[in-house]
Formats: sequence, structure tokens, C-alpha cells
Amino acid sequence: MRVLGIETSCDETGVALYCRERGLLAQALHSQVERHAEYGGVVPELASRDHIAKLLPLIEQVLVESDTSAAELDGIAYTMGPGLIGALLVGAATARSLAYALDVPAVGIHHMEAHLLAPQLDPNPPAMPFLALLVSGGHSMFVAVEGLGRYRILGDTLDDAVGEAFDKTAQQLGLGYPGGPALAALAEHGDPTRFRFARPLTDRPGLDLSFSGLKTQVLLAVRAHQPLDEATRADLARGFEEAVVDTLAIKCERALGVSRLDTLVVAGGVGANRRLRQRLGELGTRLGVRIVFPRPELCTDNGAMVAVAGALRLAAGERHGLSISVRPRFDLTELSPPA
Ligand code: KG4
Ligand code: ZN
Repeated sequence: MRVLGIETSCDETGVALYCRERGLLAQALHSQVERHAEYGGVVPELASRDHIAKLLPLIEQVLVESDTSAAELDGIAYTMGPGLIGALLVGAATARSLAYALDVPAVGIHHMEAHLLAPQLDPNPPAMPFLALLVSGGHSMFVAVEGLGRYRILGDTLDDAVGEAFDKTAQQLGLGYPGGPALAALAEHGDPTRFRFARPLTDRPGLDLSFSGLKTQVLLAVRAHQPLDEATRADLARGFEEAVVDTLAIKCERALGVSRLDTLVVAGGVGANRRLRQRLGELGTRLGVRIVFPRPELCTDNGAMVAVAGALRLAAGERHGLSISVRPRFDLTELSPPA
């Protein structure tokens, strides 16, 4: 079964071809980061227009690279939400139209379910049930993945998502948009002992997360050290990263204990963070728990995770109607097993 996956929920146009028997056959990604950088954030209308310009060429590229003709496709999966409405509509309209023309089924996928299922592309995929730490630009949550479409939220963010806190803190340090990877790179040169920021909500029970107070702590430190020299910027970045990684590691250990699950999947863009991967890897060794990280390029938004999620749902018999519908706001708990 060959499924084309299309991701256009935000500022990356992602396309991939996944084969249930042979794995990932090809993938292509166009990032709009430079287009939005001068505005300091994603401009929705520009995102939609860029998806329109790039999507069909990327689909052609993936078909050529995988030596597949459109007629050989067995289904098309696209991100139906959550995300920017215009950007989602470009992917949904293209996927639906293509599926109609080829007379194959199309299936709309929840973006966060796609992140959760990205490790299914691993040669040794984690078996369900497993625990997932979902950390992206819009979400920070602990999810018990009990089966396809059966997701129980064990903890959620009370304010900023982890990626959002990385991006906003990066902005305070003058690192531009999106700042997460740039902040992580700067932190490599920083002194981990100079700034000791709070580990939010670790002093009370529960699995909820909160990062906006930490972001404010960094802002106050930035103001107190004006003008910032290079070493101080790196030390602040390192102090922030240490606080986030420490907090997530403490909460992961707690979540593993509460859920009694023996596999932890780390999904979403912040899962690409090197120090978080190292720290959770050490936790896994200490607890004798399997920790699964998708390859860094499969942590951030991409078409492959949508293709694999679509293949699983299509193979289970899921079919959607012909209407082009998207869900800009879409709660993970609204999902159900394949129908
Ligand atoms: O999953 P993703 O690509 O998009 C969303 O669904 O939100 O996640 C993007 C987020 C951004 O906030 C970005 O700054 C963050 O992931 N990110 C990182 C790293 N790479 C991406 N944060 C920290 N360290 C990284 N290496
Ligand atoms: Zn994402």
C-alpha cells in the first residue's frame, strides 16, 4: 500500500511517499522560515500562498524520486488540523482533488497524531501502549497512546508550549525567528552554572507543565545584564535550556511511574533538541525504559509522519467523505479509532 502524505498546517510544506511493505520511499520539504523571518513570526496569508506555489512541484518531485506514477498511489493523507486555516485548506483541497481524480481514498489526519506516530517509521517501531512526551511550538503534553486514535492526556501545558517558550526566549536574546534551534546552538557555548532558573511545577504533584514564568525570569535577567555581552547571552541560553530539560526529565520520570508504561516516545519539534535527547536517554538507561526519538528531521513538521498515520488509518478501513473540511482548532481527545 502506497500512501502520499501532505503536511501544510503551518510554515513547512511537507510531502512524502510511504509504502507499508517497504517503508519511506521518498520525502521532500520546503521551509518558509526565511519568508516569515523579517516579520518575527508566521504571516498566515503568506504561508497559504507559498504552500500553493510549492505543493504540486514537491508532489511531482516525490513521485519521481520514488519512481512511482500517480496511478500507483493507494491513498492520500493530509493534515486537516490543528493549524492555520488557509494553509490547511491548500493541503486539503489538493489532496482531496488528487484523490478524486485518481479514484483513491483520502484521509484527513490530526497533526499531533502524526507527530505521535512518526516513530512508526523507525525500523524497530514502538509497540502500543506507550507514553509520549509531545513537545512542539503549540503543544506540551504527556499522552498515553493506548492504540490508534486512543489518546489519553495525562498532563498538559497551563500556558506557553515548550517550543513557544524557546522561541520567545530566543527573541529576548535577539536570535530572530524561529529561535528554538538558534537558542540551542548558542547554549552549547554557555556556562550551565551561572544562571539557575526555576524548574516550574516540579515541587508539586501532577504532570501539567508551565513555561511562561520561566520565560519571564529570563527576561528579567536579560534586563538586569544590559548591555548583554556574548558570553552572558550564551549563559542565559544555557540556563534556560537546562531549566527546560531538567523540568521535562523530572516530569518524564514521574509520568513513567504514574502510567506504568515501559516505553517513552518523544515527539514534536523540541524533540530535536540535542540536550533533551541526551538527558532523556540517560533517564531511560537508569530506569530500564526504552526511550524512542524520531530522527531529528522527523521530529519537526514533515510529510512522512502524515503519510504513515494515513497508511495506518486507511489500512484499518477508515474512509472520509468528499468534502474539503479542515479543523484549525482540533483537540487530540476528539479523535477515535479508525471508523
Ligand atoms: O513540531 P514543530 O515543527 O511544529 C509545531 O507543530 O509546532 O515544532 C516547532 C517548534 C518550534 O518552537 C521550534 O523552535 C522548536 O520546535 N524546535 C526546537 C529545536 N528544533 C525545533 N527547540 C529546541 N531545540 C531544538 N533543537
Ligand atoms: Zn508540528
